[in-house]
Amino acid sequence: MRNTEISPSSCILDLCIDSIAADKSISHRSVIFSFLSNKKSRIANYLFGEDTLNTLKIAIQLGLDVVDSNGNINDIESIKNSKEMYLDPKNGINEPTDILYCGNAGTAMRLYMGLLAPNKGQFILSGDKYLNSRPMDRVIKPLVSIGANITSRCNNAFAPVCINGSLLKPFEYFSGISSAQVKSALLLSAIQIEGVSKFSEISKSRDHSENILLGMGANIDISNDEITIYSDKTPLNFLDITIPSDPSSAFYFAVLAAISKGAKIVLKNILLNPTRIEAFYILQKMGVNISIEVKSSQYENIGDIVVQNNKLNAITIDSNISWLIDEIPALAIAFACANGVSKVINAGELRFKESDRIKTTLEGLRLFGVKCEELDDGFIIDGGINIIDKTISINSYGDHRIAMSFAILGILYGVNIVDSDCIDVSFPNFLDIIKNITEVKNY
Ligand code: S3P
Repeated sequence: MRNTEISPSSCILDLCIDSIAADKSISHRSVIFSFLSNKKSRIANYLFGEDTLNTLKIAIQLGLDVVDSNGNINDIESIKNSKEMYLDPKNGINEPTDILYCGNAGTAMRLYMGLLAPNKGQFILSGDKYLNSRPMDRVIKPLVSIGANITSRCNNAFAPVCINGSLLKPFEYFSGISSAQVKSALLLSAIQIEGVSKFSEISKSRDHSENILLGMGANIDISNDEITIYSDKTPLNFLDITIPSDPSSAFYFAVLAAISKGAKIVLKNILLNPTRIEAFYILQKMGVNISIEVKSSQYENIGDIVVQNNKLNAITIDSNISWLIDEIPALAIAFACANGVSKVINAGELRFKESDRIKTTLEGLRLFGVKCEELDDGFIIDGGINIIDKTISINSYGDHRIAMSFAILGILYGVNIVDSDCIDVSFPNFLDIIKNITEVKNY
């Protein structure tokens, strides 16, 4: 297990960061959706983080050929060093000879369930100890209701999950949780079911899957918050995508600028999907100077975000939670440094992420002497750091977003992150960027 010590730095930050890791959501989807075409897709700047590497390895087990720019086929080590890769679905999805290991990746597990349920064969999906204790019934139940043959541990609640491919029926499904993973699983099935299917959800979750399907030429209609999928099972067009930087990864540095006196940080080439940049607007409402400029577009808008330190006032967040769910631990760091009492409610979903993020965020903040209160569906944070112990050790509980959020606070106050390996799940070069700002020791 790796631990990381971050020393406090007092320099005034003026940074331009053009190496934020590629978007995790789009990387997962670029591989999984390539199975919906019968032609080769081209993917550049794929995220070779642990989660998305698992997605790629599973795709190879299912029969996808992954070819790098030097012509190496299915050789993960050489593909990792390649700027672009071609994904050839050849004869579609084949039954694998071994289990499909998703590691820590909820997105991989849930989206693969939707992709695989209507295909011939038996597929067993498993993950690490954290993923295997996260709820899978949110995807299993709707898929079973449309004819899928899926069983899993604890009465269909947790992975490992066993899918016996079967014929699914067109459906009309309303999801009571705002989850892009649930939505994507159902869309992936719907596109492989002959007929008309409809999906709606309690409030709109991130919409990459719809955007990619439209980009691949799928016959889908999005109106009045309902997605209608018309499918005759014809293979879709191939994907051709250069994956932009991940706004959730960029957000750690936005928070760094927000809490560092005099700081200005420019974040280059960031995915600007509106369902993904809500947290930047929250910082703006707190008083931070933020400007966002669209520079290009490929399936979705891409551009630069400039974050400049200013005042930082408390805020209450009670809506659009699914648009900032991954950023709440980092936002909590901003709340801890803000003037006044901030509050997050209606965010019970935080308990089902890579850790129970209500508990793990508050546990960390209390070690920095921050006054906070746990709510069933959120928390209250009274801004103000009050350090008593000299070295603060934060347990990441294997959650990449907890590790990186507290690493950012550590740049101001010093911190020791226990179990920091998880950072590689989504942002393998995170500590390299931090090393340009302050001293970092791994041990
Ligand atoms: C993701 C959706 C979100 C998010 C996760 C990635 C995706 O989860 O928390 O990190 O790529 O679809 P839910 O859709 O389950 O809320």
